[in-house]
Amino acid sequence: MAASLVLFASLQLAALAGAGATVVHYPPSASNINNLTFVLNGTGAPGIFNSSVTPEKDYGEYNWCNMPHVRVQEYKTPSKEYTLEYVEIIQRHHKRTPYASNTFFKEDITWNCDGEGPVVYGKGPSGTSSDVSVIQWSAYTDSQNPWTNTVGPGFVGTNCQLPQITSGGLEDSHEHGADIRAVYAERLGLGETYDETTNQIRVTNNVITSQVAGALVKGLFPLTTNLSVLLQSDTYDSLEPVYSCPTANSLFTSYTTDSANWTDHLTAAAPLYAKLDAVSGTSNPDSGGWHTSFDHYYDNLSAKLCHGKPLPCSVNDTSLCVTMDEANEVFRLGNWEYSYYYRDAPASTQYSALHYGVFFLELKAHLEAAMDGGKIKYFHNIAHDGSVSPVLGFLQIATMVWPGMGSEVVFELYKNAEKSYFMRVLWGGQPMDTSTPMGTLDMVPVQTFFDYIDSMVGSGAELLSACGV
Ligand SMILES: *[C@@H]1O[C@H](CO)[C@@H](O)[C@H](O)[C@H]1NC(C)=O
Ligand SMILES: *[C@@H]1O[C@H](CO)[C@@H](O)[C@H](O)[C@H]1NC(C)=O
Ligand SMILES: *[C@@H]1O[C@H](CO)[C@@H](O)[C@H](O)[C@H]1NC(C)=O
Ligand SMILES: *[C@@H]1O[C@H](CO)[C@@H](O)[C@H](O)[C@H]1NC(C)=O
Ligand SMILES: *[C@@H]1O[C@H](CO)[C@@H](O)[C@H](O)[C@H]1NC(C)=O
Ligand SMILES: *[C@@H]1O[C@H](CO)[C@@H](O)[C@H](O)[C@H]1NC(C)=O
Ligand SMILES: *[C@@H]1O[C@H](CO)[C@@H](O)[C@H](O)[C@H]1NC(C)=O
Repeated sequence: MAASLVLFASLQLAALAGAGATVVHYPPSASNINNLTFVLNGTGAPGIFNSSVTPEKDYGEYNWCNMPHVRVQEYKTPSKEYTLEYVEIIQRHHKRTPYASNTFFKEDITWNCDGEGPVVYGKGPSGTSSDVSVIQWSAYTDSQNPWTNTVGPGFVGTNCQLPQITSGGLEDSHEHGADIRAVYAERLGLGETYDETTNQIRVTNNVITSQVAGALVKGLFPLTTNLSVLLQSDTYDSLEPVYSCPTANSLFTSYTTDSANWTDHLTAAAPLYAKLDAVSGTSNPDSGGWHTSFDHYYDNLSAKLCHGKPLPCSVNDTSLCVTMDEANEVFRLGNWEYSYYYRDAPASTQYSALHYGVFFLELKAHLEAAMDGGKIKYFHNIAHDGSVSPVLGFLQIATMVWPGMGSEVVFELYKNAEKSYFMRVLWGGQPMDTSTPMGTLDMVPVQTFFDYIDSMVGSGAELLSACGV
């Protein structure tokens, strides 16, 4: 049964390849990130995890709380023969409270969002009664509701939404927008007010991306008072992404849950798990996903540190606490996991091609429109780690990491005097190193870039069929 399922999956993949796409996996570089010996037995954190501020001299270093992005200070202007024609950015949202699913266990550290709740209301075309007041959400629990304590979250009593962008995350979003503006406003001729004929902002159905948009736009287009942002349906949005692709899902399962290449690291980390479970009171096994990857512990511990909160202790024994060394091991493991998911597993490139191919079809069309004299100059996508990761996987970045808060990929389209077009792709503000024959994505002829996308995806119809839809 299992064998025939695998055969079915590989026939699907062969069909994709036969239809014009030929995905080739180029393994990533070896580093401490994907070296399991170092991850389990090494020391230190793989970057900054306790503040949004990166010391100036270290800017560009991995900072989980606020990843490096394009800034005037580090920006490399290409030689004068090139003019910048179009820029598209995809970024992860900024720092936030944890997701409710990552807060199953009980401990003493609380989150307060007094006066910081997300603003939610409807607006008419020319001003309605709802324009006169700002409606802010404040979470609460009522002891009369007996379901309150049955759903798990050890978060009873907070007035925060889980998740919501925190005030610190909003400040980071604003600064991110202002930094982008400082680099691109003059180069692209961006106005001080958002203008939907030349600019576009796109979000996902998860409201935290709109929370970021509000603060980001204030930095990016400072005189803007209102704007509409683009949003695809939550049944097939390509940005989050949520479109159905059963082939991608079974492929992912085949190299994670079903593969010793994946499960071995969970087994090897048993002593760490035992300690974390003792502090949190999480059972092993559990049904909440605490032991199928380090995602939940990573999110739980890093969100605390990024907001200046201490590491947790057991509610039953205040001397039993998660140590910084243990947190650092969780952070090394989390980065190892993302490198495995999106780069180290041989099938991971095929996974990114299927799971995120639609975004690249859309990007290619945006670039073609700009080359065709289209008016849109600047397109900004606000998304998730689950979006930025397959972008990095698709482009086969040389050294994969878990994309932290605000992490950013910039696609720049240039034209030279001969009217030839070129791509530069920035990661953390600098040209991205890949393991592909394109090498560093720095003035790659646009046709080479398009050929690469075609080799990964084929046409939209081919992708749909390769996905098994
Ligand atoms: C880590 O070190 C321990 C003992 O120090 C050893 O038993 C184990 O094999 C090492 N793990 C890896 C992945 O090298
Ligand atoms: C992995 O890390 C260990 C421990 O630091 C080191 O001894 C080993 O050389 C590394 N392996 C590679 C391939 O770099
Ligand atoms: C963050 O951690 C580093 C070392 O990991 C430490 O040197 C620094 O003081 C810490 N900063 C804050 C704000 O806690
Ligand atoms: C902002 O609101 C005004 C008046 O309601 C409207 O004319 C304009 O198109 C809006 N701008 C955007 C970018 O949505
Ligand atoms: C497991 O790793 C080996 C060695 O890297 C590789 O050949 C094999 O394809 C991997 N299996 C899966 C399911 O990823
Ligand atoms: C604390 O102790 C109680 C009673 O033994 C137990 O039910 C609970 O799971 C413990 N909580 C943690 C976080 O260990
Ligand atoms: C971790 O989980 C505990 C228990 O649910 C919660 O109180 C705490 O705030 C969480 N912290 C983070 C940062 O997720």
